[in-house]
Amino acid sequence: MVASVTDVDGPAHLRAGGVSVIVDTGGGGLPRVVYWGADLGDLDRDSLAALAAASIPPVVRGPVDSVVPVAVLPEQSAGWLGTPGLSGHRDGRDFSAKFTVTDVESERTPGPVAHRLVVSAEDPHARLGLRIELELTASGLLRLRAALANHDPERTYTLDGLVLALPVPAQAREILDFSGRHLKERSPQRHEFTLGTYQRDNRRGRTGLDATLLLLAGTPAFSFESGEVWGVHVAWSGNHRTLAERTPDGYSLLGGGELLLPGEGTLGPGESYLSPWVFGGWGRGLNDLSARFHEYLRARPQHPSARRPVVLNTWEAVYFDQDVAVLTELADLAAEVGAQRFVLDDGWFRHRRDDRAGLGDWYVDEQMWPGGLHAFVGHLRALGMQFGLWFEPEMVNVDSDVARAHPEWILSAGHRLPPEARHQQVLDLAHPDAFAYILARMDALVTEYRIDYIKWDHNRDLVEPGRAAHGRAGVREQTLAVYRLIDTLKARHPGLEIESCSSGGGRVDLGILDRTDRVWASDCIDALERQQIERWTGLLLPPELIGSHVGSPSVHTTGRTHVLAFRAGTALFGHLGIEWDLRSAAPADRAALAEWVRLHQRHQVLLHTGRVVRVDHPDPAVHVHGVVATDRSEALFTVVAVATSELTRTGLVRIPGLDPDAAYRITPLDLTADVAAFAGRACPPWWAGGTTLPGRVLAEHGVQFPPLFPERLTLVHLVRLDQ
Ligand code: DGJ
Repeated sequence: MVASVTDVDGPAHLRAGGVSVIVDTGGGGLPRVVYWGADLGDLDRDSLAALAAASIPPVVRGPVDSVVPVAVLPEQSAGWLGTPGLSGHRDGRDFSAKFTVTDVESERTPGPVAHRLVVSAEDPHARLGLRIELELTASGLLRLRAALANHDPERTYTLDGLVLALPVPAQAREILDFSGRHLKERSPQRHEFTLGTYQRDNRRGRTGLDATLLLLAGTPAFSFESGEVWGVHVAWSGNHRTLAERTPDGYSLLGGGELLLPGEGTLGPGESYLSPWVFGGWGRGLNDLSARFHEYLRARPQHPSARRPVVLNTWEAVYFDQDVAVLTELADLAAEVGAQRFVLDDGWFRHRRDDRAGLGDWYVDEQMWPGGLHAFVGHLRALGMQFGLWFEPEMVNVDSDVARAHPEWILSAGHRLPPEARHQQVLDLAHPDAFAYILARMDALVTEYRIDYIKWDHNRDLVEPGRAAHGRAGVREQTLAVYRLIDTLKARHPGLEIESCSSGGGRVDLGILDRTDRVWASDCIDALERQQIERWTGLLLPPELIGSHVGSPSVHTTGRTHVLAFRAGTALFGHLGIEWDLRSAAPADRAALAEWVRLHQRHQVLLHTGRVVRVDHPDPAVHVHGVVATDRSEALFTVVAVATSELTRTGLVRIPGLDPDAAYRITPLDLTADVAAFAGRACPPWWAGGTTLPGRVLAEHGVQFPPLFPERLTLVHLVRLDQ
């Protein structure tokens, strides 16, 4: 149902998924979020108006002699002297806009978006038009974006930046955000939300290994289970900005948007700019906030099925050493342990013997693969496996046929090439011929081999990313071109799945995930590191979107050694894969791995549809997390020793999220109740045969767990006993 401006001339109350958002669209100014947090119940028009009025602060000495209304696009014309929502000008003029609302549409829908407000506004003096879309999803996520139009019939408007902001209350005094690097993505940083602007800018031309997937602010010491927390995410795979701002006059904001390089926001007469979506999540604890993102993603029509094929990826098994006989043996062993999809990683195409040559020459290498991949792919299919192939579509080596033939397709400032990274340069996909070439090659290969899955890699940051033809900055156009390329391939090949990989977790964002089916969270398969990386990647993404592989016993990227139960028990919770030269695994190890694959498959629907629960366990050396079925009929939990504890016992472990009034049978899973986890140590008496307890007791009191060696884990399964 669409309501006209007259129906929404008071504050609009958006309510869904236990969240209320009250937006004031009155007074002619841009919309202001007056309240964003726990559901306030059914409020009538008078109460809403009273709430909005009661939220107006007194006028104090400030930048202006009136209260500064801080809109979702904060304006200096209203007296706001913090980060402006809109930065831009026309030859230095029209540097400050003042928008007047011309129309507000309010629409309630039964789908994944529960309530939508569309606000249109004009600044006739600056000759700018603005359209802000603000949506509350059924899961209680708030998302907004803006379109800015240059209405001047003759003169260009230079847009320098557009930031959308959401207010958070004063009790949000602590910030949690994430940094990272290759092999260690999503390192948490916690700090006070001090006065001033805390800004995370990303100019890497991709989302970034160091990107903060969420910038969160919450009540002091907020945790997975407690406190109140608000967070923002910019759904964009190019340069972007995320910020937290607190001003002495009592405003606290979280916001973000695309970060435009000089000239990228040039709007000719009649042209417009559409910002990425900025998502806002609120929760009582991080679990609650995170569940809103998971539910939203799972409600999308394109969300992959819970029954995800278990993958074998060749990278850490053979690297560039692609030998048909070896790969055939690996495929046989992959099928033996239960893999359902075989992904041939980097190294299959012309001139590619190492990372110095060949990128861009997307033809199957005739020497390595005489006769093409047909026989091999046929073998995979005979074994019952799908076929996946690695590409790095945006990249070229200078030592490649394509770069030799088309140096003008390489992104550069115009008169020099940028420094190489991993010996490669970036192809200008906004160049129509480069785009057409890449699309044609990928399309041809997907068609010829009926490729089920593409591992889409992107292994460098964009340095001096100019478009060679005119030397202008081109990250925005590149990002849009990549989206277009993926969308075209997907439209031509329904059912094709794509993994977003970028030196590991360098392209994890809800923009790329609108069109891809999982992310490769990190090149580090070390289970200990993965416990951290997936803990934080999982705040944004549900487990089925996070590729999680069982690596070899001795970790290639850290030198640590881990038992199979720790590696597999860690990978179990994501989209399971294997990245290990199984030829080096003893038959007993392969049999054990096959058991883990079966365990994953047995619980796959639970793991890939259930609610993720992370427990605030008191011992920092122990992590406890699990998944509870949406109907709370069963759950799978793991207790992980991520360090050497100061305590001799693991102690009582609480298991929240179950039906408090139902009884649950809790049993250890055989695969971890073995020598590996706690050899020679005592188990609590209930461990041998399991026990039955009410959900409320499990949540509030918990059960004793065996002590764990460091870098070991154990698993328990819980089943509700229905009366
Ligand atoms: C980086 C990826 O993250 C790896 O998994 C692998 O695909 C290599 N690139 C291949 O070059």
